[in-house]
Amino acid sequence: MNRTDDISNLFHRFGASADSYLEFDSHFDYKEKPLALVPALPVPVPASVEIDAPQVAIEVSETIPTVRTLQVEAEQPVVNTAQVGASLRHLLAEVALARHAEAQARNEETLRQVLPNGRPAKTKARVIALVSPKGGVGKSTLASALTTALRLEGGQTLAIDLDPQNALQYHLGAEPDVEGMGSASLKGENWNSLLLAGSAGSLLLPYGSVTEDERRTLERYLENDRYWLARQLANMNLGENDVVILDTPPGRTVYLDQALSVADQVLVVVTADAACFVTLDPMERLLGECRASGQAPQCNYVINQFDTSRAFCRDMHEVLKRRLGSKLLGVVALDHAVGEALAYGHNPLLEAESSQACQDMLMLSDRLKAQLELMSVSESYAS
Ligand SMILES: Nc1ncnc2c1ncn2[C@@H]1O[C@H](COP(=O)(O)OP(=O)(O)OP(=O)(O)O)[C@@H](O)[C@H]1O
Ligand SMILES: [Mg+2]
Repeated sequence: MNRTDDISNLFHRFGASADSYLEFDSHFDYKEKPLALVPALPVPVPASVEIDAPQVAIEVSETIPTVRTLQVEAEQPVVNTAQVGASLRHLLAEVALARHAEAQARNEETLRQVLPNGRPAKTKARVIALVSPKGGVGKSTLASALTTALRLEGGQTLAIDLDPQNALQYHLGAEPDVEGMGSASLKGENWNSLLLAGSAGSLLLPYGSVTEDERRTLERYLENDRYWLARQLANMNLGENDVVILDTPPGRTVYLDQALSVADQVLVVVTADAACFVTLDPMERLLGECRASGQAPQCNYVINQFDTSRAFCRDMHEVLKRRLGSKLLGVVALDHAVGEALAYGHNPLLEAESSQACQDMLMLSDRLKAQLELMSVSESYAS
């Protein structure tokens, strides 16, 4: 059976004749291209992002427009200039930060190269640092009192103000606003030539007034030279009967770190309250770090501004006594004469009528002196 019979049979089955059947040439040149596979697109795709992934879709869209390609075509002309601007600023800030970090690293390297190496010989003088995590507890007041009262036989006692507040000069009645330790250190001057006469034959090196830039420069220097204070003291050529009292700013500062690195005695000043109590642990940890790094200053505590009339203060005293044991070297009474003496430029220890606080300060001075003498004795046995 051939193809013509097939067609004739088919027509016949439907009750028709194949006489009118006309067969066309079956080859037809279709204009439409065959279907191409459309890759799966991530959905949903946010506008103005994912330029890479939609490229595939854009190629396909030449053949078949898909939902995604229509979206892309619609989104392309909308350029969010605010976002472009913000991202450019972000990139510029990143570049500026990287440039700043590079310059800082170069500076630090230069600083490291110019700094003298190694720990200088320890000063022969005894060094006592007054410290406290909390401000306003009476460090400067007690530093001034000890500078006035504590003398070793044949020696002199001098105070060094390591606090940019520059307040110790007022406590010791020295002439204010002269050049001090801050700017002298920046110029590399010896500290001996800057000592001022304070009350009761004391000597004082004030922090002095410096600009904010100078203060920052000095502090950066101190951060990089851990032996800065040790070197300054060594250059002063002090004797073994001299005593240096260091007044420090509150909290953990570069000045505190420097003071701890040279101190024979650390006197932590606290008040009888919860705010100071919670600082005891961090303080002990810090002193523990000092011991671990080879410095082992003796550490004592003093409660200042102690108000005997309040049961709470007395209870806090008991708590601190139990906690600190023999390290609690003294208690100094709250005495408004102390604050008033500062206001009038008097040294309270030189007032004719000695107050309770003054007696407490003198007792504290005696106990510290005894400890320094003990230290000298044990060192002479050891050598
Ligand atoms: N025992 C005291 N009785 C009464 N007032 C006191 C006593 N001790 C200190 N003061 C007063 O308390 C205030 C703060 O004292 P001082 O400046 O010595 O504290 P500080 O710890 O050095 O402060 P800072 O942390 O800011 O350096 C001053 O007005 C001072 O006169
Ligand atoms: Mg102070």
